Amino acid sequence: MNSHQASNWSDLAKEFTWKTDFKSELSGGFEKGDITWFKEGSLNICENLLDRNIEAGLGEKTAFFWEPNELNNSLKKSFSYNEVLTEVSKFSNALKESGIKKGDVIAIYMPMVPEAVFASLACSRIGAVHTIVFGGFSKEALRSRLIDSKTKLIVTAKTCYRGNKTIDLLGVAQEASKDLDHLSHLVFVDNSDTSANEQSGLNQISYTDFVKGMPTTFEPVYVEAEHPLFILYTSGSTGKPKGLVHTTGGYMVWSAFTFKEVFQFQDDDVFWCTADIGWITGHSYFLYGPFLNGATQVMFEGVPTYPNPDRFWKVIEKYKVSHFYTAPTAIRSLQCLGDDWVLNSDLSSLKVLGSVGEPINLEAWQWYNDIVGKKECEIVDTWWQTETGGVMISNIPGKTQAKPCLATKPLSGINPALLDQNANVVHDNNQEGILCISKPWPGIARTILNDHNRYLETYMKPFPGYYYTGDGAKRDDDGDYRIIGRIDDVVNVSGHRIGTAEVEDVINKSGLVIESAVVGIPDETTGQALLAFGIVSSTDSSEVLENKVNEAIKEKIGSFSKVKKFVIVKDLPKTRSGKIMRRLLRKVATKDENLGDTSTLLNPDCILEIKKSLY
Ligand code: WTA
Repeated sequence: MNSHQASNWSDLAKEFTWKTDFKSELSGGFEKGDITWFKEGSLNICENLLDRNIEAGLGEKTAFFWEPNELNNSLKKSFSYNEVLTEVSKFSNALKESGIKKGDVIAIYMPMVPEAVFASLACSRIGAVHTIVFGGFSKEALRSRLIDSKTKLIVTAKTCYRGNKTIDLLGVAQEASKDLDHLSHLVFVDNSDTSANEQSGLNQISYTDFVKGMPTTFEPVYVEAEHPLFILYTSGSTGKPKGLVHTTGGYMVWSAFTFKEVFQFQDDDVFWCTADIGWITGHSYFLYGPFLNGATQVMFEGVPTYPNPDRFWKVIEKYKVSHFYTAPTAIRSLQCLGDDWVLNSDLSSLKVLGSVGEPINLEAWQWYNDIVGKKECEIVDTWWQTETGGVMISNIPGKTQAKPCLATKPLSGINPALLDQNANVVHDNNQEGILCISKPWPGIARTILNDHNRYLETYMKPFPGYYYTGDGAKRDDDGDYRIIGRIDDVVNVSGHRIGTAEVEDVINKSGLVIESAVVGIPDETTGQALLAFGIVSSTDSSEVLENKVNEAIKEKIGSFSKVKKFVIVKDLPKTRSGKIMRRLLRKVATKDENLGDTSTLLNPDCILEIKKSLY
């Protein structure tokens, strides 16, 4: 895909194969949330990703290398574009045989194994909708997603290998899938010696048996440009997780264009995005954007420190990775282990280093630049969200200037604005404002599954005429943006997006507290960490309660949402209308003395009490 100025999305879109040409670029808008791109066009994204590249001569090119958790794993480790197409076609045929049709939802609850790629792309080939659920989510979190999306078939694996840990993924998937009328099939990758229990009421079958004897070709099913491609659940500031819906045509153009533009990727480069496919980064910059551009990628099953803390660097050396994309939390945790692990690896293939998921702090940026990149790589600090589908603000290697800790400039065609609480545009530089976007772009999520009203309320209504991001930002005198962080109750722990409301809900329902409040506080390694405050009636110590609370969180959401500390308090600061002032709790926890006017609180005295409990 050309990396020219995207002033005209139609030109970019026309580089792809369409079954029926589209008639218009953009129609609809933020107001009604009826954003439509490439109206009347029909296409198949999988055809664009595989067949189109194969026709262009890339059939024998490596689509991806698979780096398993174990160094001595003897399974097949690289797949050409031709081979991917064969595997995807087999899986597509098997889906069809199982009665899966265009528009049906398929859940992918898998580790980073090649079959996850084949299964996901097979969904898009037959016009089904995938919902990929991160393997770290618990049975209940998975179940709620299966129910909300009315999943028909789930693909999983017996085991998830992460360093020296093994997780019984199949067991979790089976538990989550019990007695759901809409769910008829469970397919599992047989990746361990353990025996698989039968699951009554479900057609349970191993991946190998599922695709056995299936034809190796499958005609793509063409869908309209606005046909849903996938649902991805993410956390918001209130309520249950939102199933964001991304649609086919716009997402294809956006993920492909942003990949090419931000990474300035060349044909012989090797791209490695360390994100799990369960997160948006794994969707846009592993599953779709790079493959749409015919790139060669690395897919990694393991963790950065297994078997040694140099695993990342050895993988870069082994595959001569030129473009490496990871999160600040990973950078910080590897920085803590010392420079030698990096210096003893040959990283001379690296050209571009990317950062995503949270603001990168100066120390981490410098280490990434100096030690990993040897001051010879471009660092791209890419700001975007699950909702935006692809990168929105980033410097561009060779085109625009990088600045440590600043995402810098919007991509061509993206118009950010900073607004104050009263919806006035902040014109002055170096002033904090709420980051909003003033025009729809092709990759924006189109709705929240089953709740379009919530979509409008969350993103379109706070500031009419703008898409509301939930992030605070500043613009400097060069017009470069620095992202400050969330201004709502969403927290980024190790790059995982967590809604404090969800965690509070688990704590409140655990029976351990009368009332609780959870806030995010800065943390040296994980970026932010969760701090829980609870009014309790038991005599348990805060350590005991912390363990109990974390057990409940592990069961209901997943271990990655555990709280770092549980603080027992007598009261929580509240407004006169009874709303908990989490902002104040955050300030008290970070010893910020500038609490503002606390006289309007219902119970201002509790602040002193909370300070005593904390320090
Ligand atoms: C934060 C991840 C600062 C931000 C792609 C956003 C960032 C949230 C950056 C979305 C960055 C992402 N600098 N903050 N470069 N990238 N964020 O949906 O708060 O998991 O709103 O998408 O991550 O997280 P999500």
